[in-house]
Amino acid sequence: MELQIINAKLTPLSDNEVRAIVEIEMHPAVREWLVDYIFEDFDKELEDYKRFFREVQGNDKVEVLVAKLGDKVVGFLALWVTEERGERVGSVGVSVHPDHWGKGVATKLVKESVELARALNVKKLIIETVEENVAMRRVAEKLGFKLECVREDKLFKNGSRHDEYVYSLRL
Ligand SMILES: CC(C)(COP(=O)(O)OP(=O)(O)OC[C@H]1O[C@@H](n2cnc3c(N)ncnc32)[C@H](O)[C@@H]1OP(=O)(O)O)[C@@H](O)C(=O)NCCC(=O)NCCS
Repeated sequence: MELQIINAKLTPLSDNEVRAIVEIEMHPAVREWLVDYIFEDFDKELEDYKRFFREVQGNDKVEVLVAKLGDKVVGFLALWVTEERGERVGSVGVSVHPDHWGKGVATKLVKESVELARALNVKKLIIETVEENVAMRRVAEKLGFKLECVREDKLFKNGSRHDEYVYSLRL
C-alpha cells in the first residue's frame, strides 16, 4: 500500500480520522517524546481536536499534513507559521503511530512540509526536539536541516532536565 500525504485544509478530515490523530498523540510511546505537552483526558482532547480541524481552513497560522496508508491515518504533521524580524518562519511538529515507526512516514511528512512551506513563502523551517530523540534528529538531519543551537536543560522529561536540539533549514 502506498503512503499518501493529505493536506487537511484541502481535504477536510472525517471524525474517525480526527480520532485516529488523537489516538496517535495520546499513545504512551508517543507521549513520552512530547515533552512540553499537557494532556487532558481522551474525550476532552478529541473535542478540542475536532474543533481545531473544523476551524483549520480559516487559520492562517497552521497547516496540517496527514499520512495515510490505505484508509488508515498513520501520522500527521503540524506546520506553525509566525513572523520573526520581518520574515516568515515555520515550526514543524510530527507524530507517527508506533506501529509504523521506521518506515519513512515522518521523513515523507517533513519533506512535503518543506514544499508546502516554500509555497507559503516561509524562509526558515525549525524542528525542536529533545536530545535523546534520535529518530526525530535523524529525520531532520537527513533532510538537510542543520543543528542551529542546543538549549541546555531546556526540557523536563521523566523527572530530569534534558537538552533541546534546535534544527533549522533555510528555504
Ligand atoms: C520521531 C518520529 C516522528 C519518527 O517517525 P518515523 O516515521 O519512525 O521516522 P522515519 O521512519 O521517517 O525515520 C526515522 C529515522 O530515524 C532512524 N532511527 C530511529 N530510531 C533510531 C535510533 N534509536 N537510533 C538511530 N537511528 C534511529 C531510522 O532508522 C530512520 O532513519 P533512516 O531512514 O536513515 O533509516 C516518531 O518516532 C514519533 O512519532 N515519535 C514520537 C513523537 C515525536 O517524537 N515527535 C517529534 C517531536 S519533536
